[in-house]
Amino acid sequence: MSRPGKTKFQIDLRRHLREHEVDDNLTHLICEIAEASKYIIHSLRTGELGVAGTSNLYGEQQLELDVLADRILRKRLDHSRVVANMMSEEMDEIIPVSPDCEGKYSVAFDPLDGSSLVDVNLAVGTIVSIFEGCDLLQPGRNQVAAMYILYGPRTTLVYSVGSGVHEFGMNSLMEYTLLHENITIEPRGSLYSPGGQRNLYTPGTEAFVTHLEERGVKLRYSGGFVPDINQVLLKGQGIFFYPHLKNLPQGKLRLLFEVSPMAFLIEQAGGAASNGHRRILDLQPDKIHGRSPVFIGCKEDVRLAEEFIRKLETDQTSDGGKKRQQKAAAS
Ligand code: AHG
Ligand code: MN
Ligand code: MN
Repeated sequence: MSRPGKTKFQIDLRRHLREHEVDDNLTHLICEIAEASKYIIHSLRTGELGVAGTSNLYGEQQLELDVLADRILRKRLDHSRVVANMMSEEMDEIIPVSPDCEGKYSVAFDPLDGSSLVDVNLAVGTIVSIFEGCDLLQPGRNQVAAMYILYGPRTTLVYSVGSGVHEFGMNSLMEYTLLHENITIEPRGSLYSPGGQRNLYTPGTEAFVTHLEERGVKLRYSGGFVPDINQVLLKGQGIFFYPHLKNLPQGKLRLLFEVSPMAFLIEQAGGAASNGHRRILDLQPDKIHGRSPVFIGCKEDVRLAEEFIRKLETDQTSDGGKKRQQKAAAS
């Protein structure tokens, strides 16, 4: 996109959305979420790590940072006038905001992913998934937008509305200005981010990791989903996985507000995201807090992981494999 007389750093988030002819209500929604991140940054920098009995920026009792970040986002979405339903990692149920769906959006979010890392000063983030209308229990391929905000040494925001994936940085005026446009990922990588305990890996994942190590691929794992995915995106290569484990057949990460929005963003950059058997964005969620194993990043490496799992976990154990295959296919 040519922008006479403008450096990319002068392209702020709202202008970028306008340039991509994004619907006005969706533009407003994405900008409201960006606005809310400023209060979350404030709470991260100043908030107590846990219930401290002091008051927060809304005059309420200081809460765990997860809950505080959740309240900040809920208030914004409540007052945005463009949200039909919302749900988050901190809510038990879907919260209805407006009775009509026309021109409105439904939002699933993780207000503060990796919050247990705050007290050791590691990077954390907010993850958001946006659908048109009222229904949140749709396959991820129907998302109209996905985004995350990464609270690291710098605060950055990454979003996609289905026409490429773009990164913005927060400047000294707390505005988000364009850093990287149409980010892409190589087909094959040289870093891997392995979540979960190695001794609980199933044979397919175990063989995949051994292959990566023999290939000389470097291990990079922070324990925060947002920085770990951001690393794959901004390095333009790599694979993250939080696989099915012997004691957690569905893995740890939640489909609706962690795995699915990241899958949307990574696919927009030319990468892939799988549950080990199937494309994440084709999975039909059956409950709002459902979990999914995830292998996400360079397309060839994701396919390779699926190959190891197919060979070592479905062919060898006949009915176990068949049952797992039927279960994976149904999920
Ligand atoms: P949350 O803090 O929202 O519960 O999510 C934490 C997740 C995710 O950030 C990360 O990929 C994963 O937990 C790390 O899990 P382990 O500590 O088991 O590696
Ligand atoms: Mn999370
Ligand atoms: Mn969280």
